[in-house]
Amino acid sequence: MLTSAPPSASPILERSESRLSKKVFIKTYGCQMNVYDSARMADVLAPLGYTACATPAEADMVILNTCHIREKADDKVFSELGRLHQLQIEKERAGGRLVLGVAGCVAQAEGAEIARRAPYVDMVFGPQSYHRLPEMVARLARGGGLVLETEFPVEDKFDHLPQPSHQIGPSVFLTIQEGCDKFCTFCVVPYTRGAEFSRPVADIVAEARLLVSQGAREITVLGQNVNAYHGAGENGAVVGLGELIRRLAGEVGGIERLRYMTSHPRDVDDSLIAAHRDVGILMPLLHLPVQSGADRILAAMNRGHTAQDYRRIVDRLRDACPPLALSSDFIVGFPGETGADFEATMTLIREVGYAQAFSFKYSPRPGTPAATQGVQVAEPVKAARLADLQVLLAEQQHAFNESFLGKTLPVLLDRPGRQAGQLAGRSPYLQPVQVAASADLLGTIASVAINAARTNSLAGRLSTLPALAGVSAA
Ligand code: SAH
Ligand code: SF4
Ligand code: F3S
Repeated sequence: MLTSAPPSASPILERSESRLSKKVFIKTYGCQMNVYDSARMADVLAPLGYTACATPAEADMVILNTCHIREKADDKVFSELGRLHQLQIEKERAGGRLVLGVAGCVAQAEGAEIARRAPYVDMVFGPQSYHRLPEMVARLARGGGLVLETEFPVEDKFDHLPQPSHQIGPSVFLTIQEGCDKFCTFCVVPYTRGAEFSRPVADIVAEARLLVSQGAREITVLGQNVNAYHGAGENGAVVGLGELIRRLAGEVGGIERLRYMTSHPRDVDDSLIAAHRDVGILMPLLHLPVQSGADRILAAMNRGHTAQDYRRIVDRLRDACPPLALSSDFIVGFPGETGADFEATMTLIREVGYAQAFSFKYSPRPGTPAATQGVQVAEPVKAARLADLQVLLAEQQHAFNESFLGKTLPVLLDRPGRQAGQLAGRSPYLQPVQVAASADLLGTIASVAINAARTNSLAGRLSTLPALAGVSAA
């Protein structure tokens, strides 16, 4: 509901309003796909006169780009909305106005609930609708209460987006695939992002070229199920992720690093494994979530593979690309998980060895099968298992980082460092690296001799030695 909206506005007023400079603050929750979407929302709003600002207090419009994956993520949205409502009231008292928008997966899943619990929100729109922002803003200006947009097919979104024009750093995301048809029993993504959709190869190559011309050195291609990618090639053939990676590496001059995420073990095919062997700029860190090491739990999760299948895939990937390191997601306390099941997960972690990983307590999500099936695991048991698992993963991460002491790594310097005279960047394995370097090296890939390793970061000094063979960026 719009408490301070003009009762109506003439088209002339709308046009003149659109030329005024306004500020938008977009806060992003959740996955990298939301980060990409937020950047594109800023692109869509720019022609309406909106520029980005650093805090909600300066903003004429605040958009929360939300995540629904776990209960905590959801709760954050409602508490943030409460705070923003206070700001909205203060602005109105001062004769101003703050437009509040909720985008992303919570908007898609809980549009009606947001309207009920936070009636002061002006716009609620799902992940496939943000290209319609100009129309939504115009509707809002005409008055008439909440603007709700959660119904559009994903094809629309990519067909109607402007070219990326926001300020970009040397490392960027490029969404190539959206949605998921896997229906893991714990997960909301198939409901919030809809069915799998792959963008055509030509569109992706063109967007990658544009990003490189704007200064990108590293591109991470994104999808909820990125290796299920099956986009249309120019000749009508279907192209998989392995071939797309080869094409990007071969056809987009100036890309120095490629990554992809998030992939599913079931969709790792021969062509993708071969790309890890053949494509030098494909970085040697693979995020390949396994969730659990127990076959009964994997089956109950509907993951469609066993722990042994996963081990075999990892072995084949490592045979093809020996420097490859692995990352994963784990869920502890899935309904019905016994102590022995949890131990099977710990065993798998010990056997595979991870460079880094994300781990979560199972969070029952409304509308997903697992929320109402099986015996829910007690909260203290989940907490204890998560703590044990995270100790093991932290040990592995620390040992992995220490293995680079005395070695030289190529580091993409993409931001100022912690202290003056320092820059920070990412190694091929995404380790944050601090290094004493002058600002003119920002945006370049430098050889860094590693002389300190912590669990979450590395530090080193600039080196003239060539960076470690097998992980070089060239
Ligand atoms: N598409 C990716 C993951 C997307 S969600 C894949 O298939 O692996 C990111 C991670 O959140 C998942 O890998 C999972 O570990 C975690 N997650 C998803 N739903 C969850 C839930 N209900 N409770 C706890 N963690 C969850
Ligand atoms: Fe969710 Fe499973 Fe799809 Fe990943 S593969 S997005 S975990 S349903
Ligand atoms: Fe969250 Fe939606 Fe991404 S639920 S993890 S923002 S796909």
